[in-house]
Amino acid sequence: MKVTTATLLNQCYGRYAVPAVNVFFMEEVIGLFRAAQHWAAPIIVQTTPFARDYAGADMLVSMVEAAERTFPDVVFALHLDHGVESHITGAIGSGRYTSVMIDASHDSFERNVKRTAAVVRMAHEKGISVEAELGILAGVEDDLLVSAEKSFYTSPAQALDFVRETGCDSLAIAVGTSHGAYKFSGGQGLQFDILEEIGEKLPGFPLVLHGGSNVQSGVIKRINAAGGKLGEAARGVQDEEIRRAIPLGITKVNIATDMRLLWTMVNREFFRDRPEEFTPTTAGALYMEAYTDYIGTKIALLGAEGKAAEFS
Ligand code: 13P
Repeated sequence: MKVTTATLLNQCYGRYAVPAVNVFFMEEVIGLFRAAQHWAAPIIVQTTPFARDYAGADMLVSMVEAAERTFPDVVFALHLDHGVESHITGAIGSGRYTSVMIDASHDSFERNVKRTAAVVRMAHEKGISVEAELGILAGVEDDLLVSAEKSFYTSPAQALDFVRETGCDSLAIAVGTSHGAYKFSGGQGLQFDILEEIGEKLPGFPLVLHGGSNVQSGVIKRINAAGGKLGEAARGVQDEEIRRAIPLGITKVNIATDMRLLWTMVNREFFRDRPEEFTPTTAGALYMEAYTDYIGTKIALLGAEGKAAEFS
């Protein structure tokens, strides 16, 4: 059952968060919906412009719609992650998305407000909600690299003005996470003082945590033991940090990197341990299974297990 993103985020505010997972291909769509069904949790399915270019927007969204028919009990929303106007117009025009993200966080405050407000007007006309971003996260997101020097935290005072002036429905904030597999190499972690202040200025308003992957050291070690060469110093957002962030207003936790690492681990180990194999679906089935299990751990961490019932 498709519901609006705003419905999900307003409902869970302060109590639990919804996992928002970026999908790129069929095994991920199925793995995600299986997990949502098994743990009766609401989910947000996300597609980036990169994913839409890879599979083709219609192909990608059609897979999600096929999953909707296959798993009719699953409560989900479909979100365009990190869009700019050209993608957003396409996503809104298609009538298939429940929300879009306008990422004008790299612009000045004034230009970010202007671009976001224009998207909000266009989206709200069609009943679609808008996530905006204020502050800049470091790291790698698909094909975009932001250096640590260019990143900065969200200003709580600006966050209030920004939400008032744009009319956006949720706000992605920069409070110490970064995108990609190389986060927190400096060990700084989440900035709870900033998050708390933003939450106080915007009570009841859904906040979004990008860069929500955990980057499990055990997974990195297994990848490297199976021939990978990934840096082992980085760590992601710790479970304890996520738990602490939810009562402070984080309603949506974005996850992409952990699934990419999982894919790498499953496939590297598969080809190392079964060198006689050459059947893509054998490895694909293992990935789907591992994917479902891993999303199950995220659902539990965010407190979303069993919460699909709140939307029936
Ligand atoms: P990770 O890189 O931590 O998975 O974050 C993904 C994300 O924020 C997508 O928008």
